[in-house]
Amino acid sequence: MAFTDFDLLVVGDANPDVIVSGAPRRPAYGQREHLVDTGDLVLGGSGAITACGAARLGLRVAFAGRVGDDPAGAFVLDALRRRGVDVSACVVEPGAATALTVILADGQDRAILTAPGCLGRTSAGDVPPGLLARAAHVHVSSFYLQPLLAEGVPELFRAARAAGATTSLDTNDDPAGRWEGLEEVLPLTDVLLPNEREALAIAGVADLGRAVRELAARGTTPVVKCGAEGAMTIVDGEPLHVPAPAAKDAGEGANDAVDTVGAGDSFDAGLIAARRRGLPVRRSLEVAVACGTLSTRAAGGTAAQPTWEEATS
Ligand SMILES: Nc1ncnc2c1ncn2[C@@H]1O[C@H](COP(=O)(O)OP(=O)(O)OP(=O)(O)O)[C@@H](O)[C@H]1O
Ligand SMILES: [Mg+2]
Repeated sequence: MAFTDFDLLVVGDANPDVIVSGAPRRPAYGQREHLVDTGDLVLGGSGAITACGAARLGLRVAFAGRVGDDPAGAFVLDALRRRGVDVSACVVEPGAATALTVILADGQDRAILTAPGCLGRTSAGDVPPGLLARAAHVHVSSFYLQPLLAEGVPELFRAARAAGATTSLDTNDDPAGRWEGLEEVLPLTDVLLPNEREALAIAGVADLGRAVRELAARGTTPVVKCGAEGAMTIVDGEPLHVPAPAAKDAGEGANDAVDTVGAGDSFDAGLIAARRRGLPVRRSLEVAVACGTLSTRAAGGTAAQPTWEEATS
């Protein structure tokens, strides 16, 4: 491997998350005011949460994405910087609105309302070629929220691989429910990081065992996040499942999962870090699962992300 300045370059989404807990299942309209349990303003966006998680795990991380020149954009860049993530390649678009997400959390379930702002204009061309050459691993997040970037992922991953880097992709949800555009991308993706529902949708089958086989046959290694059930992958054609510890056993002082927002993105960070450090597959999944579960100790995606020591003890 050539010398690199960054263990990880994340290309993707960053936005403030407003997390409201205890909202009614169907909020009443008609200008009624409803008091809820808590409201938190935190760093969100799958890519930003993965970047912060990896930095907390000790990786040298750069983030490339797009924000507007508004208070939300300043909040996002400041939060990433404070976690030691290099944001010098981020594009600040004059006059544009930064993406903003409101999450209505109800226990483990949640409704997610996202105003994409300038996210849709993020493109592979935003990533300086020089930066790509300085990263050992390139991760792309939220494929379906960033259609321009999605178009450019094949070229981005080809260039990353040509420079000696490995690649991973977390598509997250497809709000349009079409799950298209991955044919060319999958064979260029070393690790695909869907959750269970996403894995089934991308593979176009109803059974998870079949889905991981199908995705592996399309030229990638799927590592599927299964919430409180842990995670699974495929090794030599055989499914490998790693359970999650109960959230209450996840660490000292941890109670039941407080908030699962960003657990999947913290899992991604754990898996990338474990692979970078050369851990075998099963152990890498265990570390990733620990990172996901430990992240549920506090509200928001980044507040409770573990250090490498915490994730591996
Ligand atoms: N209720 C829970 N209890 C214990 N661990 C959990 C729980 N929910 C999630 N996790 C941990 O977090 C990991 C990822 O969670 P999940 O399957 O929810 O990913 P995701 O759907 O991609 O999440 P995200 O909303 O961040 O995109 C799981 O593999 C598990 O380790
Ligand atoms: Mg996810």
